[in-house]
Amino acid sequence: MILAAGAAAAGAGLASGLWWWRRARFAEPPPPPEPPLPPDPAFPNALRVPGADGMYGVLDAQAITSIVARPVRYPLLDGRPAELLAYEVEHVGRTIFNPTFRARTGARINLTFWNALEDPGIIHWHGFKVDSNNDGHPHYAVPGGATYEYQFAIPNRSGTYWYHPHPHGLSGQQIYRGMAGLFIVEDEEELALQRALDLRLGATDIPLIVQDRRLDAYGNPVFAPTGIERFQGFLGHQVLVNLTPRPHLDVASRIYRFRVLNGSNARIYRLAFRHGERLLDFTVIGTDGGLLGQPRIAQEAFLAPAERLDVVLDLRYFSRGEVVTLASLPFDPMHQVAGQSSSAHGAHGRHAPGSDQGPAAAAPAAPTADGAEIELIRIRVSSRVTYGPSLPSILSRIEPLAPGGTRPRPITLDQKKGIWRINGLTYVGDQTPIVVKRGAVETWEIRNLPPGMPHPFHVHGFLFQVTSRSNSPEHVRSIADAKTGLTVSDLGWKDTVLVWPGETVRIAIDFSHPYLGDQVYMVHCHNMEHEDGGMMLNLKVAA
Ligand code: C2O
Ligand code: CU
Ligand code: CU
Repeated sequence: MILAAGAAAAGAGLASGLWWWRRARFAEPPPPPEPPLPPDPAFPNALRVPGADGMYGVLDAQAITSIVARPVRYPLLDGRPAELLAYEVEHVGRTIFNPTFRARTGARINLTFWNALEDPGIIHWHGFKVDSNNDGHPHYAVPGGATYEYQFAIPNRSGTYWYHPHPHGLSGQQIYRGMAGLFIVEDEEELALQRALDLRLGATDIPLIVQDRRLDAYGNPVFAPTGIERFQGFLGHQVLVNLTPRPHLDVASRIYRFRVLNGSNARIYRLAFRHGERLLDFTVIGTDGGLLGQPRIAQEAFLAPAERLDVVLDLRYFSRGEVVTLASLPFDPMHQVAGQSSSAHGAHGRHAPGSDQGPAAAAPAAPTADGAEIELIRIRVSSRVTYGPSLPSILSRIEPLAPGGTRPRPITLDQKKGIWRINGLTYVGDQTPIVVKRGAVETWEIRNLPPGMPHPFHVHGFLFQVTSRSNSPEHVRSIADAKTGLTVSDLGWKDTVLVWPGETVRIAIDFSHPYLGDQVYMVHCHNMEHEDGGMMLNLKVAA
């Protein structure tokens, strides 16, 4: 269906109405009615949050039998319907785009994917430990008009996973034009945390999908990388959160959880919560593959494309009207490829958010530089409430993997003549350059050979533990653990790890799985332009 601007606006109103209803119904005592805060002209748009329908509407994944990928019209700028690509589900009279799926560990998924795009399509469940038939490997991409059947039981522990297209050479474009959503898995530990903090998805547990985009005057995402941009990654002029430009979120004085996904093609964020000039402490409770063993306090964290950070922000001591900004702090993006340095995109200046532009302005010539300081969202305390709970000191239990005595498997990331490579190779669909034995527990030593670029290294089908990081740049070392070199973004179970130029990162992976026969997964860089350019290899797990 074609969603008109008016219907979308009504949907957004409904979602925020629901938020109030939930809070009024459950919070104790109910907050006294307070007038809304005055509008903030710099961040005028209420953040889209997952509600009952519309964009990112929450759906029980087990109740859904089909999902379609298709062009849709959806307003991104000033209610003007933009042309997006999206996943769409019709469910009991509701239309949902890019659903926020929710399911328990072990839930059975039976889903028909209908590709109503012109181009090939396939859905990859990023982070899921499913068999290769259900992984969404590009090998299984179906042509426009065709369908693909998914059938699996969710093997993962709780966590903030996501799904996105994976047809070879087209994933970056399809994601950029709108296709991506979250898949939230819940288990007993997760439910205990939700009870302990009185969290509710869409109200006090808020997903933040952070994506930089180049939009034209109508709000249409424009994916048109030049040769250099295919090499470096495609950067946008402004950063959208949950497809909301210049967003604000009005909150109460209590504890909030934010599940942050970097859904950008290439941009890395250095996340921090700012109150005036001061950086606030926040607490990291989880990463890609779910909860950490214990909460960890931080003031900043890098988040590369595809990584997730699950954080808790304590706003109990804030007064009405105070504003906390989720920002990306400036950093050196280390695009150190000779003759193609990041300065080709302009110096990484301070305060360069595309968000300053008037909404009607056409896209300016140069995108916001990688590593530029950016305000992502303004969080405004609009009401005082009484809130008792505090964060439990134990969240989960994470057993460290014990790799066998064999030498680490070397993985090198580099480029030759402008082509990014893994182990000197690029993707060839019918070749499997990496073969591991089912059940093996291996250490992989990933070296990013300088000069180069940061590469978010991703493995399908398994989660891993980052065990050490060495020869790191100063901006990483300054926030890293002195012994292991790890930062807070490396903790817990991971499916994507950022490797900076010159760095050596070791990860431990357990290749056990319950499936019969050989399984073919893949490893790739999650800079989408690098991936689409072939920085991707098949990974065979031999039975
Ligand atoms: Cu999100 Cu093959 O990856
Ligand atoms: Cu993946
Ligand atoms: Cu890369």
